[in-house]
Amino acid sequence: MTLEWINFVPRGDERGVLVAIESGRDVPFEIKRIYTLHGLHPGAVRGGHAHKVLRQVIVCLSGSCLIDLDDGRSTQSVPLDDPARGLVLAPMVWHEMRAFSPGCVLMVLAAAHYDEADYIRDRAEFLKRANAASA
Ligand code: TYD
Repeated sequence: MTLEWINFVPRGDERGVLVAIESGRDVPFEIKRIYTLHGLHPGAVRGGHAHKVLRQVIVCLSGSCLIDLDDGRSTQSVPLDDPARGLVLAPMVWHEMRAFSPGCVLMVLAAAHYDEADYIRDRAEFLKRANAASA
């Protein structure tokens, strides 16, 4: 699976670092929704689903975690720990976030409003659809 990272421009000086993310410019879609995750228990697993069409970019704003990705053909475990870098979460990729450090904060930029109908939460259904798509 090819990972698609977006390197944002960190504007740092002696006061700290500013990162600007513009809809349609720094991410390859118009941002319709932003959600964040914080207060994450170190042993928790978040995600555990794929999306049918939704495109997202995930950024770790503070701390670190791992994201496990599975497109039905291969799997990868990727560290997220850089607030100036976003990982593109394509549709039809099963993803789980885990191993949260203390103070880990995640931000997700999404191309559509929340729509439960776009979720595939059943692992068997995901594998069936992923295999059918690659056949
Ligand atoms: P859930 O899908 O369980 O989160 P995760 O993918 O991190 O495991 O979502 C938790 C709750 O939040 C669930 O009731 C749905 C709701 N939710 C929204 O209302 N809007 C959103 O944009 C998202 C992502 C979730």
